[in-house]
Amino acid sequence: MTDKVLIFDTTLRDGEQSPGATMTHSEKLEIAEMLDDMGVDIIEAGFPIASEGDFRAVSEIARLAKTSTICGLARANFKDIDRCWEAVKHARSPRIHTFIGTSPLHRAIPNLTMDEMAERIHDCVTHARNLTDNVQWSSMDATRTEWDFLCRTVEIAIKAGASTINIPDTVGYTEPAESAQLIRRLIETVPGADEVIFATHCHNDLGMATANSLAAVAGGARQIECTINGLGERAGNTALEEVVMAIKVRHDVMPYATGIDTTKIMAISRRVATVSGFPVQFNKAIVGKNAFAHESGIHQDGMLKNRETFEVMKPEDVGLSGTTLPLGKHSGRAALRAKLKELGFDMADNQLNDIFVRFKDLADRKKEVFDDDLIALIRQNDGAE
Ligand code: KIV
Ligand code: ZN
Repeated sequence: MTDKVLIFDTTLRDGEQSPGATMTHSEKLEIAEMLDDMGVDIIEAGFPIASEGDFRAVSEIARLAKTSTICGLARANFKDIDRCWEAVKHARSPRIHTFIGTSPLHRAIPNLTMDEMAERIHDCVTHARNLTDNVQWSSMDATRTEWDFLCRTVEIAIKAGASTINIPDTVGYTEPAESAQLIRRLIETVPGADEVIFATHCHNDLGMATANSLAAVAGGARQIECTINGLGERAGNTALEEVVMAIKVRHDVMPYATGIDTTKIMAISRRVATVSGFPVQFNKAIVGKNAFAHESGIHQDGMLKNRETFEVMKPEDVGLSGTTLPLGKHSGRAALRAKLKELGFDMADNQLNDIFVRFKDLADRKKEVFDDDLIALIRQNDGAE
């Protein structure tokens, strides 16, 4: 089995489905270009039958993509699949992604029996396969689908010609051990499973999307479906930046590779936050404002001596210029001295002691002490002498 893990980004489809995250046409093209440029293997550019706008966006993204495969989503019916193909066919590398909900709860909606659903899967994957040899099949709500029926749907999709089989955890219900086991057992059980790529598509309802995706890879999945900043329905999807950086940083225990240029992560994170109108939480892993910021005295002192004391990755690896040591009431002398030096004030110890007392007094009243605050403190101090 290869160690390459394909990154399938669905910011423009599942991400955009977050209530309120709608992007304009030009914003979608811009994000698609950034995804293509950072080395995303497959971009799910939209759901072409959903609207004229989605169709147009997917078609244009298909035309502009330089290296990524461009995928569109289609429900399991011929009309959706044909519309999807019309949009993606312009791509250098097009993919049709078709799906149906296979769990008891989802089967009840179109009111299909297991046999009827099996037939639908066969017909739809065959239809898509007549249009392109790059077909992805998803058993939506796979993690709540009966084991025997899940195996049956996967086997039918493989026999009908799907080359990627996605096992979505649609409602973020699984947990890591189960996620790994599910993929491993499918690969061991379903005839033809070793001929296709298994994908994992996790939602974050219980906060386990990243862990579940990585566990699925340990079980044999070789495609992770994810979004920038974890954007997505409800609590979101697996965050691209988290799985990619986890694989990079913990290569010792996760010996896989992605093709992502990680130095482009911050730029796209900020752009997606702006265009979707979904700000990134301050303490969000990898891309949060505080992900590489240290305020406490002990941490700042450690960081000034050796950055590995409190950082497991370099900020430069995700496209930041460096660590930040914001000054606040928890900061110590070492960080104050370093900041003053950076501002051009090389202080003798007694001067620093005076400023430090004033700084602590100010920090008790203010959440963060900025450069201008420090300069004002020094001026006051000079005036007092
Ligand atoms: O969460 C899900 O199951 C999906 C499918 C359409 C793949 O987004
Ligand atoms: Zn989803």
